[in-house]
Amino acid sequence: MQKPIGIFDSGIGGLTVVKQLMHLLPGERLIYFGDTARIPYGNKSKRLIEQYAMEDARFLLQYDVKALVVACNTASSLAMDVLLKNLDIPVIGVVNPGAAAAARLTRNNRIGVIGTIATISSDAYRHEIDRLRPEAQVVGQPCPLLVPLVEEGWLDDEITRLTLKRYLHPLIEQQVDTLILGCTHYPLLEQAIAETVGANIQLIDSGKEAARAVKEVLHTLNIENREVNNNPNHFFVSDIPARFEEVGSRFLGQKLTHVERVNFDQFLLALGSASFSDRVMKEEV
Ligand code: DGL
Repeated sequence: MQKPIGIFDSGIGGLTVVKQLMHLLPGERLIYFGDTARIPYGNKSKRLIEQYAMEDARFLLQYDVKALVVACNTASSLAMDVLLKNLDIPVIGVVNPGAAAAARLTRNNRIGVIGTIATISSDAYRHEIDRLRPEAQVVGQPCPLLVPLVEEGWLDDEITRLTLKRYLHPLIEQQVDTLILGCTHYPLLEQAIAETVGANIQLIDSGKEAARAVKEVLHTLNIENREVNNNPNHFFVSDIPARFEEVGSRFLGQKLTHVERVNFDQFLLALGSASFSDRVMKEEV
């Protein structure tokens, strides 16, 4: 099937998932939406993240996508139910594939998860691991400083190493043998994290696991693209693209092209959706 795959994230981070998808599924056309005007999602409430995720998904549905990839750990942790309930195409998040890999690979039943504040407090990884491997213990650690450090490009930097030490020390103390990188930005810190936790703790990249899950879903539903794909991948953002192009190229590991700003407010108006502030005010009166 020649239709594209839709992918969304709160901003730039989902490009680490795009990188894996491009590697595993080179014949597929990808349409990405990065909600750079409303990033970060990781410190927002469940209600708001659900609303944003539905709006992002609706934007991508305009392109007749055959499947939707929620390439954001925060949205996958908090909005999967709402997306699955409202959409009639396959929806693949990053949490369940990451949790499944950790549940399969742990040897001592102690799994650590790092992510944004919203991801960790949602307990989404814990719930999925409980379901798959009830004897496993899950230790969560929010690491809110890591997203800005990665976007700043401080990947091999003393400040980042000290920050990682501080965040990861409790997980090492708890003797986890498996650590889920539960945020789109963390694959860029894989080496620094591996050096901090040591060789005895295996790292799980939830984006990489999600790309494998997407491949499996396309195959199972027989909706892979079997034609030659000459169409370029397309990247939409809700704020000016300059920073997305610059930082995003690092995330993707290659130069980003075909980036376009969308007037998201206009899209939401056309969708008949009340603006965020209108809605919050109505609900909070
Ligand atoms: N993409 C988000 C995630 O994976 C990180 C950035 C944000 O907080 O929006 O959780």
